[in-house]
Amino acid sequence: MNTKILQKITQGMYVLTTDNGGCVVDAVSQVSGSDNPLIAVSVMKKNYTNEILKNNTKFCLSVLGMDVNPEIIKTFGFNSMRDLDKFQNIETNNVDGLKVIKDSLGYMECEIVDSIDNDTHTLFIGRLINSVLYQDSDAMSYQYYQEHKDDLLKIKTNNNQTAWICTLCGYVYYGEEVPNDFKCPICGAGKEVFRKK
Ligand SMILES: Cc1cc2nc3c(=O)[nH]c(=O)nc-3n(C[C@H](O)[C@H](O)[C@H](O)COP(=O)(O)O)c2cc1C
Repeated sequence: MNTKILQKITQGMYVLTTDNGGCVVDAVSQVSGSDNPLIAVSVMKKNYTNEILKNNTKFCLSVLGMDVNPEIIKTFGFNSMRDLDKFQNIETNNVDGLKVIKDSLGYMECEIVDSIDNDTHTLFIGRLINSVLYQDSDAMSYQYYQEHKDDLLKIKTNNNQTAWICTLCGYVYYGEEVPNDFKCPICGAGKEVFRKK
């Protein structure tokens, strides 16, 4: 199985926010348009964002542009709100009680109308109730992120430590060797997908 083909599915880079939480997502798709615009987002069950979405009625998706500050991806994609207040150092705008990312191309505000659970993820389906374009420029694609994540995230191998990058999501493990039973805390991938930096 070559999972690299999955990166050929055209996806973007977003920060999904709901009341007092949020995370980076790429698994977003427009389900329908025109009279009944529906947007689906798939959120891992282990994420804190999943837990709080279940108790909320709305979410926002901030669309990340090509020149987004990578700190936003690091903060929202590699940390959990369980351990860090992600909103502390990232500038946001307030939208009907939800926070959206200021350094984005704009946002979509959705009302949750349905959700579907599987073993690992919940697919939240939202009806678009408000959308704002801050900047009409190119969005960052997930493929671009995958191809440039080393540079974007500026992975350094300091303190004589070896850095191993998860080729699926960009998480970095520091240590001489990745343990055989290691699972990426972000995407769950095994040792075999880690590449030495
Ligand atoms: C590039 C990238 C794409 C991601 N895509 C998704 C996604 O589509 N769905 C998801 O649930 N998590 C995704 N994640 C992982 C979450 O952003 C990450 O697990 C986050 O730390 C969860 O934070 P939380 O516990 O505060 O919810 C992605 C991370 C990165 C870096």
